Amino acid sequence: MINVLPTFQRTEDLLQLMSPSEPVYCIYPDAAVASARNIVCGFNGRVLYAVKANDHPVILNTLSDSGVKHFDCASLSEIAVVHANCDDPRCYFMTPVRLRGAAKEAQSKFGVKHFLIDHRSGIEQLYEEITMKGSVVFARMAVAHDSAMINLSNRFGAPPDDIPELLQIIQDSGAEPALAFNVGSGVTSPSAYIHAIDIVKQILDGVPFRIRLLDIGGGFPRPYPGFDVPNLELYFDGISDAVRTLRLAKNAEVLCEPGRALAGPSMSAIVEVRLRKEGRIYLNDGMYGIFWELRFKGHERFPVRVFRDGKPHTGATRPFRLFGPTCDGSDELPGDVELPADISVGDYLEFGDIGAYSLTGRTNFNGFHSDRIVSIIGSRPPSSLCN
Ligand SMILES: Cc1ncc(COP(=O)(O)O)c(C=O)c1O
Repeated sequence: MINVLPTFQRTEDLLQLMSPSEPVYCIYPDAAVASARNIVCGFNGRVLYAVKANDHPVILNTLSDSGVKHFDCASLSEIAVVHANCDDPRCYFMTPVRLRGAAKEAQSKFGVKHFLIDHRSGIEQLYEEITMKGSVVFARMAVAHDSAMINLSNRFGAPPDDIPELLQIIQDSGAEPALAFNVGSGVTSPSAYIHAIDIVKQILDGVPFRIRLLDIGGGFPRPYPGFDVPNLELYFDGISDAVRTLRLAKNAEVLCEPGRALAGPSMSAIVEVRLRKEGRIYLNDGMYGIFWELRFKGHERFPVRVFRDGKPHTGATRPFRLFGPTCDGSDELPGDVELPADISVGDYLEFGDIGAYSLTGRTNFNGFHSDRIVSIIGSRPPSSLCN
């Protein structure tokens, strides 16, 4: 796919040309290429991009061209958008709750072979819709860890004690049994994965056959201001060492499903200051828009830089409370943000590292919704080193 977005070399160029009154979301394809290469080269196994993090065609296409050929999908529409924008992709339907008929269509129309269940009843649903022989069905194990910003095992995943029975049910169905878990999102310690793999070890030691595929889920973190995380190599090395202790099939492969770590660095959001009341600033985007992920009480901030009259603006700072434009009382970004003390209406803020869980979750609440998306090629987005 050709990048059909309006393209600029620098944020300054965009602001000088557009002076946008709506929020503008900037895709930095070079940043997506860098994160794809880092993870595809560093992780010892198969990298599936978690499409939920950002399903914009340019992001999908850039990741795919940079070596990400596998995609973790939760719906037929995600599978369709991947196929529309990537070259020869492999989609995995990795959720236990699907629309009726979706597994059937995923297999017949898109050749999907990998599915997931987390309860014995799941196999009956699959049985009605797909050909089990030649398919791989993952049993998802629930496992949480304190170091995760967001727990992903409160709704999905079977208790570890139920996994041997699930694997056996899958084996009996004619599909290939495999195992998956997800320790959470924004996982700040590699030990979360090592802990989960240790539980897998105990399970597999009691299972009478060897599995070939182990999916360790997503969760690789991004550093945000005030939210430091270890280097990804520490995760990759810890996972590889722990996997070596497992009783797996000879041709075994480990899979991971990063969303945030692949998509996060690849996008920024440019928003305008619309009202200032002393220490309070009201923006043209907020918690119902591009910042919706901040309501999950994980990290509090994105890196930010300020522009005035199309140029970077700095100076002595003070803390501000930031609000969105909607009428809702909760439309306030968490925490205080240090910004130049003289910030005024008409200044622009560019928030970086906002590529994950931003475009995919925003709403049209109160009629605030922008679809102005551009790409910036040749300069770097704001990074967590900014503030
Ligand atoms: C099943 C599954 N896989 C992968 C991910 C991606 O997580 P992250 O963006 O933290 O890598 C999620 C996030 O919700 C998920 O639910």
